[in-house]
Amino acid sequence: MNYIGSKQRVKTFIKESIVDTVGEDLSGKVFCDMFAGTGIIGRVFKKDVKKIIANDLEYYSYVLNKNYIENHQALDYHDRIKTLNHLAPKEGFIYQHYCKGSGSGRQYFSDENGQKIDAIRLTLQAWRESKEIEDGMYYFLLASLLESSDKVANTASVYGAYLKHLKKTAKQPLVLEPALFEENENIHQVYNEDSNTLIEKIEGDILYLDPPYNEREYGANYHLLNTIARYEVFTPRGVTGLPQYKRSNYTKRTKVRESFEALIQKANFRYIFVSYNNEGMMREEEIKAIMMKYGKYDLKSMPYKRFLADKVGRRNVKDVETFEHLHVLEKNNATF
Ligand SMILES: C[S@@+](CC[C@H](N)C(=O)[O-])C[C@H]1O[C@@H](n2cnc3c(N)ncnc32)[C@H](O)[C@@H]1O
Repeated sequence: MNYIGSKQRVKTFIKESIVDTVGEDLSGKVFCDMFAGTGIIGRVFKKDVKKIIANDLEYYSYVLNKNYIENHQALDYHDRIKTLNHLAPKEGFIYQHYCKGSGSGRQYFSDENGQKIDAIRLTLQAWRESKEIEDGMYYFLLASLLESSDKVANTASVYGAYLKHLKKTAKQPLVLEPALFEENENIHQVYNEDSNTLIEKIEGDILYLDPPYNEREYGANYHLLNTIARYEVFTPRGVTGLPQYKRSNYTKRTKVRESFEALIQKANFRYIFVSYNNEGMMREEEIKAIMMKYGKYDLKSMPYKRFLADKVGRRNVKDVETFEHLHVLEKNNATF
């Protein structure tokens, strides 16, 4: 998934920096990915650590992580995927409110794909309610639907707006592809909470923080993924059909510093690693000053090329050299 702030491109740098600090043997460690998004960083460590705790404020992210992180034993999914790919179309909630043919005025998906999403989503609900499938399979199939729907969305990149005309990829028929996860023996845990609430309830060894770094709210930019994931009835309003969404303190200039410091201060983890964009709301020096209060601080950096987008979100317009930073804190015993 093309996700704002995704760490896909820099996951190796992050993993190497963490191993460099904590040591090669992570087999006894509890690792928390507190702002998990697509779950990519938890996925990178899933096989190496004793337990991953993944969390995100957004429900679609919870679904992705319930699959990619919490699912850890093989599922017999082939027939289920096949059945879902051959369902008759349904004029459900997505078609009615987010496709053009229904007269909704919106065009986030082609009519055919909207009806396909509805048919799959309704079937998943029925299978779950009749207990025909267990939670592991339910989240696996729902994550597969989110990923496959995102591939055929008629947007420039995020769901803040749809395109006037169906773009090439949006015209392709949706094919439900399996959202494959890594198998391993250990049991992992996924939450859907505010980071600053969850931090009071958990403890572990390595805490990885990748909060939003500007005012863009994920709940607004990915609202349609939440709507497909939740599939609850509401009245979509306005041009975009945006539902009520959660707002994060990490996207507010007036709240971000105190929230960040509270998180660091309350963390019951020896090592804390923070990814934060150097053009973000908190300056590098501010992050350093906050973290230094609680133990030994270090900064790891890697140069990389970033693609700037144009007004409609197309990449490749111009590339600029930038740095990926990872702030490192080893907490003093007295502070956790
Ligand atoms: C920069 S993204 C993380 C990207 C992730 N590391 C990846 O590679 O996919 C920030 C994430 O923080 C989540 N978020 C924002 N505020 C939050 C909060 N207060 N508590 C938990 N998660 C939050 C957003 O929903 C978003 O998924």
